[in-house]
Amino acid sequence: MDNLDHILAGIAAEMRGMENRGKVADYIQPLAAVSPHKFGMAVVTAGGSVHLAGDAEEAFSIQSISKVFALTLAIGAVGDQLWRRVGREPSGSAFNSIVQLESEHGIPRNPFINAGAIVVTDVLLGHHQPREAIGQMLRFVRELAGDDTITVDEAVARAEQDTGFRNKALANYMRAFGNIHGDVEQVLGTYFHFCALAMSCRQLALAGRYLMDGGRTTREKGGHRVITDRRARRINALMMSCGHYDNSGDFAYRIGLPGKSGVGGGILAVAPGIASIAVWSPGLNASGNSQLGQLALERLVQHTGWSVFEPRGGAGG
Ligand code: DON
Repeated sequence: MDNLDHILAGIAAEMRGMENRGKVADYIQPLAAVSPHKFGMAVVTAGGSVHLAGDAEEAFSIQSISKVFALTLAIGAVGDQLWRRVGREPSGSAFNSIVQLESEHGIPRNPFINAGAIVVTDVLLGHHQPREAIGQMLRFVRELAGDDTITVDEAVARAEQDTGFRNKALANYMRAFGNIHGDVEQVLGTYFHFCALAMSCRQLALAGRYLMDGGRTTREKGGHRVITDRRARRINALMMSCGHYDNSGDFAYRIGLPGKSGVGGGILAVAPGIASIAVWSPGLNASGNSQLGQLALERLVQHTGWSVFEPRGGAGG
């Protein structure tokens, strides 16, 4: 698809010229140090072709995008029992909000807000020690991306640990309701390591293939099933409804794809049956989602018709 290379090059050029780039996360030094001028984008199609633009090969902190991979592992470990401990509704609140937890008895609204991801991490620790759970996650994303060079940035994990007072409050509060079973420090240490995964747009788009392709890594021989197609569909539904916190409705309205953001400025988006897409621009909007990442996805969907709300047989085919 030469056309796709052309579209991505055009988007990258437009984004290079943008002045309003949002604000880079500054709650920890390693994120504050990243240049707001970075921009990368990668598209992996169902046919297996890879299309890159800008800084698509540069690793960045995937942060909350890791919540998608943690959810996938937890569903694999305990199946639908997970939903006894975490909901499936958009929160309409900030990613690190504590307000709903009191009235909702320590059950987080969904697995993509911090409280929900901390519960998901606790579920994974029901089966592993922290070191094993971190190793399991690293092996998982390496296998998904077909790339053994992916690492956890220990400096980011340490900085999260030093400053994560809100996350500690969330975890302790849920512990008081009986919805965290393990040791709070161990759960948080593991959660922070998940957030500190460093991946490039290329690696992330490759890792997202199973969500585009009904739970399989590739259609080629040798591709394997990661989760059932039903579960892949459901994770996509959660990404659409909850993947951008209190900005999820606007993301669905503008882009119309399942997507998950992180405060490192990355977004993983999925056009089911068509493409897995990763974009990175470190400047964030008021909800903590990549300002230009969202705009770039909006442009991509305008050019390709890949919105899930596009009648099929339309521009995207
Ligand atoms: O838990 C935190 O505060 C961060 N390590 C991750 C948050 C995040 O990426 C939220 N995303 N937009």
